[in-house]
Amino acid sequence: MTSILAIANQKGGVGKTTTAINLAAAIALRKKRTLLIDLDPQSNASIAFLDQADIQLSMFDIFADRAPEMAKVIRATKDPNLFLAPAKLSLARLEQQLAGQFDAPYKLKDSLTPVLKDYDYVVMDTPPALGILTVNALVAATHLIVPIQAAYFAIEGTDDLLETYARIRSRPNPNLKVLGVVITLFDRRTNISRDTHEQIRAVFGDALFKTRISKNVRLEESPAYKETIFTFAPKSPGAEEYKKLSMEVIQRVEADRVASHSQDAA
Ligand SMILES: Nc1ncnc2c1ncn2[C@@H]1O[C@H](COP(=O)(O)OP(=O)(O)OP(=O)(O)O)[C@@H](O)[C@H]1O
Ligand SMILES: [Mg+2]
Repeated sequence: MTSILAIANQKGGVGKTTTAINLAAAIALRKKRTLLIDLDPQSNASIAFLDQADIQLSMFDIFADRAPEMAKVIRATKDPNLFLAPAKLSLARLEQQLAGQFDAPYKLKDSLTPVLKDYDYVVMDTPPALGILTVNALVAATHLIVPIQAAYFAIEGTDDLLETYARIRSRPNPNLKVLGVVITLFDRRTNISRDTHEQIRAVFGDALFKTRISKNVRLEESPAYKETIFTFAPKSPGAEEYKKLSMEVIQRVEADRVASHSQDAA
């Protein structure tokens, strides 16, 4: 069974894209076939692998019902286990158009079904909004991962995300689970980072991943060179931390799989 991870938080600039790229790359390094899907019209995750000019078919064509199939949108990357379904700015135009269609929340799930057998993991980057693109990600997902920036007011806004999560669980996707919350852009020297860490731990408890992602300039630089942190700066703290996070993610996913199986058997 493929594990489908949605990286979401409607707050902007909290490390969703950085996490989606490097978590997907770290999972692929562990020899799992991994598909990174970019659902953000800003296309930041796509541009970290491809030039915008090289993107012909994109997720836009999937949502606009123009691509015949998902397999045609998916591209190889330098890592033989990592694949990319890129986005395009034109995705932004679709929000309104899709809002009027009754099957709009299911478009991604439906188009993904035929390719799932080719992947162990799917990682989805979402835009900083709770619109129809993020809803599509949550409907298609098996698990939600929430990056939260270590900064004041970081937790405000997660209420809206968790409310959307609850609504999606109540109807279109009852099996969706929160896999975990990850603290990003952590700076151990500041009180702000330490305070928010405590606050996030108090709110999310065991859902909080043990691994924190620190502020690290290499993580900021690597996309400009069309590299993941693992080829750009393999010895950097960012590479170490995303590797550790990927191990926690895989452990939680596998533990959850065992738990669901024994539940089915009972
Ligand atoms: N751990 C980190 N250390 C240093 N810089 C980081 C780190 N994580 C992210 N950044 C930088 O912070 C900025 C925001 O990160 P990112 O694009 O991943 O956030 P996002 O949540 O995807 O943003 P948006 O909501 O706009 O999609 C980017 O310039 C990114 O390179
Ligand atoms: Mg982003």
